[in-house]
Amino acid sequence: MRRSRGLPHGKLPLSAHMREREIKVNLGCGLSGIEGWHNLDNSITIPFSRLPLLPQILKMPRWPKDVQRCDVRKGLPFPSGSVTYIYSSHTFEHFSYSESLKIAKECFRALKTGGIIRIAVPDLELLVRDYTADRDPMASHKFVSGLSLHHSIHDLVHPGSNHSQMFDRRSLPHLLQEAGFANPVCREYRDSAIPEINRLELEVRREESLYVEAQK
Ligand SMILES: C[S@@+](CC[C@H](N)C(=O)[O-])C[C@H]1O[C@@H](n2cnc3c(N)ncnc32)[C@H](O)[C@@H]1O
Repeated sequence: MRRSRGLPHGKLPLSAHMREREIKVNLGCGLSGIEGWHNLDNSITIPFSRLPLLPQILKMPRWPKDVQRCDVRKGLPFPSGSVTYIYSSHTFEHFSYSESLKIAKECFRALKTGGIIRIAVPDLELLVRDYTADRDPMASHKFVSGLSLHHSIHDLVHPGSNHSQMFDRRSLPHLLQEAGFANPVCREYRDSAIPEINRLELEVRREESLYVEAQK
């Protein structure tokens, strides 16, 4: 899959009025959702963090008010063909392949024709490259533990703490193709048809990430 810069995605400029009515969705937003988007996350700590005093006592994250608790494995709360942009950073690797395919199909359903999906995940190829270049005798163990593929009771509280699968520049576009997207493309950090990408995409994820984008 080639990397491409600045594809126009066949989009026409939208008026400010039309943009206001756009539905934009961030799946597995964590604490980094931005204003004007539907920020969805399934952490069990979201409702508790909104109770008085409990967040300070239990030292839990303070979830922004606009984050909506939603398990995206159960579907997306939007009518078919209604969503303009879907963004997801470092969340798809927390699902099994079949769960992620179901979610990607659900994204395809919810997006309007011409709508954009962009997914960022840890790039397995980069991790393998680091491993093969590592002269440490314990590189094998560092590599395997760095994949974070073990699950524990901790996952119930923090569903983003361990991975269930890893992607590379072939498997992530393949997932989107299987879900119905015709031309998924690997793109660079913040190289996107999503106008708010500079506010949305996290600098801290840049060095480890693979970015794939597709248009319905
Ligand atoms: C590693 S964090 C990524 C957060 C943020 N997007 C980022 O890039 O820093 C993964 C997020 O996915 C959320 N998540 C995990 N499973 C989910 C599900 N089934 N539905 C919605 N969100 C989920 C977790 O609660 C967590 O906030």
